[in-house]
Amino acid sequence: MVRSKNNGTVYLIITLVSFMFCHQALGEDFPLLGKDSVKEVVAGMTLEEKSALVVGTGMDMPITSNGESGDAESAAGKKPDLLVPGAAGTTYAITRLGITPMVLADGPAGLRISPTRENDDHTYYCTAFPVATLLASTWDTDLVYEVGRAMGGEVLEYGADILLAPAMNIQRNPLNGRNFEYYSEDPLVSGKMAAAMVKGVQSRGVGATIKHFTANNTETNRMSLNTIVSERALREIYLEGFRIAVEEAHPWAVMSAYNKINGAYCSQSHDLLTGILRDDWGYKGFVMSDWFAGDDAVAMMKAGNDMIMPGNPEQSAEIVAAVKEGRLDEKILNENVERILTVLMKTPRFKKYAYSNRPDMKKHAEVTRRAADEGMVLLKNEASALPLADSIKSIAAFGNTSYDIITGGTGSGDVNEAYSVTLVEGLHNAAYTVDENLNEKYSAYLKTEKAKLPKRGILDPVAPIAQMALPDILIEKSAEENDFAIITIGRNAGEARDRDSGEGDFNLSKVEKSMIDRVTDAFHARGKKCAVILNIGGVVETASWRDIPDAILLAWQGGQECGNSIADLLSGKVDPSGKLAITFPMAYQDEPSAKNFPGVVTKPLTEKQKKERTFFEVLKGEPAEVTYQEGIYVGYRYYDSFH
Ligand code: GLC
Repeated sequence: MVRSKNNGTVYLIITLVSFMFCHQALGEDFPLLGKDSVKEVVAGMTLEEKSALVVGTGMDMPITSNGESGDAESAAGKKPDLLVPGAAGTTYAITRLGITPMVLADGPAGLRISPTRENDDHTYYCTAFPVATLLASTWDTDLVYEVGRAMGGEVLEYGADILLAPAMNIQRNPLNGRNFEYYSEDPLVSGKMAAAMVKGVQSRGVGATIKHFTANNTETNRMSLNTIVSERALREIYLEGFRIAVEEAHPWAVMSAYNKINGAYCSQSHDLLTGILRDDWGYKGFVMSDWFAGDDAVAMMKAGNDMIMPGNPEQSAEIVAAVKEGRLDEKILNENVERILTVLMKTPRFKKYAYSNRPDMKKHAEVTRRAADEGMVLLKNEASALPLADSIKSIAAFGNTSYDIITGGTGSGDVNEAYSVTLVEGLHNAAYTVDENLNEKYSAYLKTEKAKLPKRGILDPVAPIAQMALPDILIEKSAEENDFAIITIGRNAGEARDRDSGEGDFNLSKVEKSMIDRVTDAFHARGKKCAVILNIGGVVETASWRDIPDAILLAWQGGQECGNSIADLLSGKVDPSGKLAITFPMAYQDEPSAKNFPGVVTKPLTEKQKKERTFFEVLKGEPAEVTYQEGIYVGYRYYDSFH
């Protein structure tokens, strides 16, 4: 710095100002995440930037471009959620402070992203692992850890940061559409399985999210349902699994549930998200809402629901206004942001991990097959029907699902896998021949029937296809020409819709029962045996027909290698070792929650009002209420206590 006698001060000021300017221009006086403390970074954020960080984007929601605050990309209108197409949600970057985006992607049976991208000949298929309810039947937390680790590997290599899994709600009633995504009726099993899954996923340096916190045990009107439940049942049944997972596995994130508990939305309940989750359990990660949950962005911040997903600009603006008008203490907003940034610093994207887009799919296919082998349950095996005797070479497979395997449930828990091994393919791979006449008839029938189905949206269940007609002559011919019969009963269900207790769902249809009857008769008449395969995501009635076939194998929904795993167990290559983690009631009405599931609509909309609803209002459902009258007596706790 040059200083002359009489105008040195001027020089000094000019120099200082220009130094400050270029320093500012270079952004050097901004705190930087990773270099400065989280508190210093938050102190350096504008209110708009904070409101951009706590409100995510995704699912084609408009983006928050809060003036200069949003990241250059988002401000310029480039949607951050295109970082990994198909991911459920993405948070905003704030480049000047070194804050990178976070990519959040589903789901419990495997990473769910778009399998193909425009102008890109690479594919982005993910491994479809067995559904959670099958994993619980393994009773093997080491194996579940391995599944989590493989899944975490795909999250890492496809560029996501946090997996929106495991889902671990209690299977309170057999008809809940998402039971396939959950582990058990029991909180200890659920907690231990979820903890193993979280540890496995996070062992790859990516995050896991335990969901849906809590008492989200009904899909009907799930976004507006008020769950009335006692404090004891809440603590001992609906919170206990989450407590175990939090304390044993420290998930990076928790997803609050859609429903209300005793009048308050989970995403807006301070008691739940701060009182219990943080004050009682010492949780250190951040809480995100379920997608489009709740109805008050400011209440979510106050409750400790740190991030609103996928979020929209109005919510961001609402938060800014609330702080300015003194309705939201900025200290609270700072805490929300601090918790998010503390996790963000652990993400691969923040650490600039160079993901390959080429996870080890071959290795993961082996893991998923082994998991399915271990989680399938042999419910019945008489007359040494299984394993198949060496003399058995040709198998007659009956039932639509023998030719149209169900690898998993529908909704956000679905996976875009590269292939699914059907039962017939599994049998062929195990060197069995199948009745080609049946194979051709069923395949042609299914092709014709599927062509008639309407295009299915992500939240639409798979429309059931009536069982192909089986004339006696066809059954007799197959019994004559084959050594063994398999009859597969399939059930699929998923998010946003519950099952029903009638025929064709919880109960087998007359046609299904007649198929089991007639096929078994025809094979027994020739001294041959038959097994029923249950390819289902949730329990079904079995008492009225289980005495008919020689064997019953519960395959659950075993992921992309399902057909191979069924063949592994039928052939005896693998010993069936799965055990039930959920009760199969003799009849649906035996269930204590059958009295009040799925709740009642409290303010019915008129037909006119229903017609006038927007897409979101339809999604939100109608105001409803369900009371957990059975208290802690869920599943075996009820049957053992009340015989
Ligand atoms: C869904 C589900 C949740 C999922 C999220 C993102 O509505 O309830 O499990 O992770 O939205 O797809």
